Amino acid sequence: MAFSTKASEAFGRVIESAAFSIADPVVKCRYISKGSNLILGRTGSDLSAEKLILLGKVLESCPSNNMLAADVWLDVSFPHVIYISGTRGSGKSFDLGVLIEGISSLATPTPIQQKLEPITSILLDTQNQFWTLKYEPKSQIPEHLAQLKDLQEWRIAPNSLANVELFSPKGASKLIGTETEFSIRPRDVEFSEWCALLGQEVYSPQGHVLRSALARLSNTDFSIADLLRDIGRDSNWPGISENTRNAVKYKLDDYEHSGLFDVAGLEISTLLKPGKCNVFMVRELSDSDKSLVAAIIAKALFRTMGDYHSKRKLAKFRGDAAFNEQLPSRVWLLIDEAHVVAGKDTQSPARDALVEFVKRGRDAGLSLVLATQQPSAVDDRILSQINLSFNHRLTFQNDVASAISRVPTKIVSSMRTGGVTIPDFGDMLRYLDSGDCFIGDQSTSRTMLVKIRPRVTAHGGYSPT
Ligand SMILES: Nc1ncnc2c1ncn2[C@@H]1O[C@H](COP(=O)(O)OP(=O)(O)OP(=O)(O)O)[C@@H](O)[C@H]1O
Ligand SMILES: [Mg+2]
Repeated sequence: MAFSTKASEAFGRVIESAAFSIADPVVKCRYISKGSNLILGRTGSDLSAEKLILLGKVLESCPSNNMLAADVWLDVSFPHVIYISGTRGSGKSFDLGVLIEGISSLATPTPIQQKLEPITSILLDTQNQFWTLKYEPKSQIPEHLAQLKDLQEWRIAPNSLANVELFSPKGASKLIGTETEFSIRPRDVEFSEWCALLGQEVYSPQGHVLRSALARLSNTDFSIADLLRDIGRDSNWPGISENTRNAVKYKLDDYEHSGLFDVAGLEISTLLKPGKCNVFMVRELSDSDKSLVAAIIAKALFRTMGDYHSKRKLAKFRGDAAFNEQLPSRVWLLIDEAHVVAGKDTQSPARDALVEFVKRGRDAGLSLVLATQQPSAVDDRILSQINLSFNHRLTFQNDVASAISRVPTKIVSSMRTGGVTIPDFGDMLRYLDSGDCFIGDQSTSRTMLVKIRPRVTAHGGYSPT
């Protein structure tokens, strides 16, 4: 079924009978019975097929509002904060791929996008597995056969991203060979981020050394070598022990040799082309460096897009037809393994940047998608802003409790499957197969059980056999 009445644009039914039955009624949702379509992520009462991407199909039956096998769409016209959680192999990275395929420019027009203006995205690929977005799945590759079969069943054609650029850290070995090297400008790193990188408290002896050196170099385009020279100059440090300075120097020395920092670092505007997907392949970086890359990107995005939208609004208000709309109006930032980048127990450069990003990003047209296998480890200030959650299979009690506490709507109280009734939402999560999840949408009255659609581009996250 589909929005379109053309048979060639209808999807396969895929789900013939209900393996899961949920008694809790769906009091409020945006369901269009003609063609059987459910729209998530939309706040108004509008039911038009505008700016939608296909997520999957309803996997549950419900006696009062049966939507079994309905196509599930996400409205991407407004910025979202999406939280994807689940255990290893439950389908989180797969979902990130589904979302990126949905919002990006694709090589061939496809009914999985409905009246969509492609959206720019930046993905922090912590496992170097998303380079395959550039390619269709191939029948010669055994791991792709199941995916091709699924696509056939769903009646969706394979596809590839029309504009994707891969980035790898300067100095790191290249996986594909065509990656663009990137580095970070030391002047873009704030004092608290340096402290987090060096594992030091802000009010510690080493923190003091960093603060003083950075203050002297502020407003200059300094390199790590300049920072080292400043710290090494005895006359700058009356009363400060050499040991403390040396400790800072040794750590910065490592960074000088890593290549991650360069005065000619990443320019965020080069990423912001309409419909372009930018994949940052950061597997080789340490966790704190991954977090720094996320922080730098999030802050630069926030500044650039915030400034752009303020000027755009002003130009509209003044009727200024000459305003140059040189940037895309919306950007999505997607982060896999978010517990590594924005964990709550470790000092991490990205934490504060992401809190700011989710709290104030809406006005700047910014969406954030976080995926994690450890929901209990991600900073709560970020999670309090979620408007959409994807709950895949989870097992550990503290992760289950934490994931449930962040669902932005009502959870299900009772579900029947395999002849038994499950009265606990945590236990329902334990039963899910890979690729199945409960989607919690702020504007739908309860979570819905959904089967995520197959990927149209090659999925790079298969387990080695
Ligand atoms: N929607 C889906 N349709 C078909 N297969 C899927 C789907 N989602 C996941 N899978 C299968 O499950 C496997 C694991 O999915 P994925 O790589 O997304 O796991 P993950 O949750 O990111 O795990 P990890 O935490 O280890 O990174 C995929 O390689 C694929 O075979
Ligand atoms: Mg993964």
